[in-house]
Amino acid sequence: MIREQSQHSPPKQHGRVHRAGNRIFKLREPSDRDGRQVAELVKRCPPLDINSLYANLLQCTHFSDTSILAEDGNGKPVGFIPAYRLPALPQTLFVWQVAVAPEVRGIGVGLSMLEALLERLVPRGVRFLETTISPRNAASQALFLKLFSRYRVAFTTRLLFSGNDHFGGKHDDEELYHAGPFFESVTPKTEEKS
Ligand SMILES: CC(C)(COP(=O)(O)OP(=O)(O)OC[C@H]1O[C@@H](n2cnc3c(N)ncnc32)[C@H](O)[C@@H]1OP(=O)(O)O)[C@@H](O)C(=O)NCCC(=O)NCCS
Repeated sequence: MIREQSQHSPPKQHGRVHRAGNRIFKLREPSDRDGRQVAELVKRCPPLDINSLYANLLQCTHFSDTSILAEDGNGKPVGFIPAYRLPALPQTLFVWQVAVAPEVRGIGVGLSMLEALLERLVPRGVRFLETTISPRNAASQALFLKLFSRYRVAFTTRLLFSGNDHFGGKHDDEELYHAGPFFESVTPKTEEKS
């Protein structure tokens, strides 16, 4: 019997860097080795739903090329965006979550990760971005509206999952934001924050 070697990919170090004052964050594709730390990070980011570690591991392996991780100067993951192309509409990138560690919020890490994802994927044919946001999550709404405005793209919203019907009253509504089209020719400048 031939046993396949487990394929643990080394973290991909290429990618964009986000600078905020004297802090530098590496933005890169996640790998299976990041799964556990990503799970810990998401736990520190309410109101995000906490997935199983297995789901985080799948995000970091099967969806690594459409997802992004930010690590601080010590190599610790402080930001994570799992995302994937819609299976039936691969021009559309669906952003599952945006998680930024509390200690590095407000310095552009979230926005930079989203822009780096678009920088990576628009040349590969992504034209639209979708995500869901709860009406009470003002920070997330402001983050995505800022992204859309910087790329000068239109967006629409509609209810995707109802708090009552889909979540049995145990969760807020999830509104779908659909934005685009994104083109390679439109690339906003990186902002530096201090
Ligand atoms: C929402 C979240 C991802 C933002 O990440 P961040 O790295 O702090 O955001 P940035 O510093 O890149 O901010 C970019 C823009 O988003 C908006 N924004 C971010 N946080 C905000 C807040 N708390 N209140 C209002 N607007 C906010 C602002 O427009 C900001 O631009 P500005 O600073 O020039 O005004 C982060 O607060 C977080 O992880 N929250 C918990 C999890 C969550 O709710 N995730 C989003 C749902 S999927």
